[in-house]
Amino acid sequence: MEIKLKSLKNRIIKELDEVKDAKFVADLKTKYLGRKGELATILKGLKDLTIEEKPRIGQLANEVKKELVVLFDRAEKLWHGQADEGVDFDPTLPGNRKDKGHLNPSTIVQYEIEDAFSKMGFTVYDGPQLESDYYNFTALNIPEDHPARDTQDTFWVEGKNLLRTHTSNLQIRMLEKHGAPFRGIFPGRVFRYEATDASHDHTFYQLEGLMIDKDINIGNLIATMKTLLSSVFQTDVDVRLRPGFFPFVEPGFEMDIKCLICDGDGCSVCKQSGWLELMPCGMVHPKVLEATGVDPKEYSGFAFGLGLTRMTMMKYRIDDIRLLQSGDLRFLNQF
Ligand code: PHE
Repeated sequence: MEIKLKSLKNRIIKELDEVKDAKFVADLKTKYLGRKGELATILKGLKDLTIEEKPRIGQLANEVKKELVVLFDRAEKLWHGQADEGVDFDPTLPGNRKDKGHLNPSTIVQYEIEDAFSKMGFTVYDGPQLESDYYNFTALNIPEDHPARDTQDTFWVEGKNLLRTHTSNLQIRMLEKHGAPFRGIFPGRVFRYEATDASHDHTFYQLEGLMIDKDINIGNLIATMKTLLSSVFQTDVDVRLRPGFFPFVEPGFEMDIKCLICDGDGCSVCKQSGWLELMPCGMVHPKVLEATGVDPKEYSGFAFGLGLTRMTMMKYRIDDIRLLQSGDLRFLNQF
């Protein structure tokens, strides 16, 4: 019996070496370890052994069984899902993608917006999130002690640097670098010293846009934004401008879109007003152009600061901003 057990083990090891697919492993397992398999047959002989032999052979049988179980486990893992071609592999079945990751909803919206702007001749740029006071504030016509700084309080680090409060820092950096004419968008992460709640977070995403050329006017701004919004929301959208103040634009506006949920009739989402505030924007202030060496007499242009996080929430009707960065798979797996 001892010999039988050992030779069975060797045979199985050899045959597992020749395995080519998962089915082969399963067949071998039934043949040897199954209820009516060879191992079971050998073990039936245990009862005929003498009292002296029983414990030793019994122990050996147990060890062999354990080893075989391990060997089959390993083979099953190795060949899991791998079928010999033509046996039971159906190439028309969709792949097994369950465990693959996917994009965060804000990234999905960001890519859609990037596509829409690329078609209008805009280039996508990136820039630093750790910024100097100069690029985040001063060059944007927000001098020290200007109250506009208070509304954008943020995280300061040593040496007068800060985590940027908006993507407008790139208006300055890009014009300094590329000069006029210029057409670009700058999506990115921004930071505010903010108590978090369902609609505020300390870290969120904006998408800034800047277009500088000869004879650019507010009509160009509106046309550009309407084109963008219809492509993101897949429908024509109505917009309106209200005056808004930002030191780096003149005139400055808040752009609203007609509520897509009630079509302007008034509902809980638009607080019965029929309009949703979407985006601050305006014509670039001559001082900003001057700070970057662009002649405001020759060039003009518009800038806008689209709330990417906000837009994502609107598009997917997400009612709590904190979900976006929560890493909660119950939320993320819905996209
Ligand atoms: N940077 C501004 C903010 O974060 C938005 C803005 C951008 C306004 C461009 C006008 C033009 O609030």
